[in-house]
Amino acid sequence: MTDIPIPDSVEHVLLDEATIRARIEVLAEKISRDYAGIRNEDFILVGVLKGSFIFLADLARRLTVPHRVDFIALSSYTDATDVPGAVRLIMDTRASIPGRHVLIVEDILDTGYTLSYLQRVFSARGPASLRTCVLLSKPERRKVEVPVDYLGFEIPDVWVVGYGLDFNDRFRTLPYIAALKRSAYEK
Ligand code: IMP
Ligand code: MG
Repeated sequence: MTDIPIPDSVEHVLLDEATIRARIEVLAEKISRDYAGIRNEDFILVGVLKGSFIFLADLARRLTVPHRVDFIALSSYTDATDVPGAVRLIMDTRASIPGRHVLIVEDILDTGYTLSYLQRVFSARGPASLRTCVLLSKPERRKVEVPVDYLGFEIPDVWVVGYGLDFNDRFRTLPYIAALKRSAYEK
């Protein structure tokens, strides 16, 4: 276990390193089984920056099937738009998508707007297949239903940080996933 002091704004550790590691092993085995026999140039993991970078790194290194790694970055519209949960792509993949097997790797599913947007964008590009792998899900918060093919953990409706996830770009590199104190994110 890494000996890193727990920040003051952390309420409690929700998922420790060993728990995350064990779950990722299971996910990686499933994915490796499902994509068995695939050729390297055909299988692309698409990580959603920044939140998924640690999850993707750990997951990818456990896969026993050949694959490529790519990233996209999104931005949520902060100005008052008429569309709830509107997101836009601010960095696209380098790899071309048509004919490839695409696995979107996302840190957390909250309202579902982000992942459903990504599914629309990527399926419109004619991939050979399109699946999603999400580390965390807060089912209570869902506004739109999104199919998830590989899910790490369901968690309650609390703001979590660590293992790639942030609050105002802080706490991303904590080795565990922790719930923030409500006083730290609610005014
Ligand atoms: P959705 O579009 O509401 O599903 O939001 C997904 C995005 O919101 C995630 O990719 C995260 O960037 C962010 N997010 C939602 N909940 C949390 C959380 O508890 N901690 C950190 N980021 C979160
Ligand atoms: Mg995210």
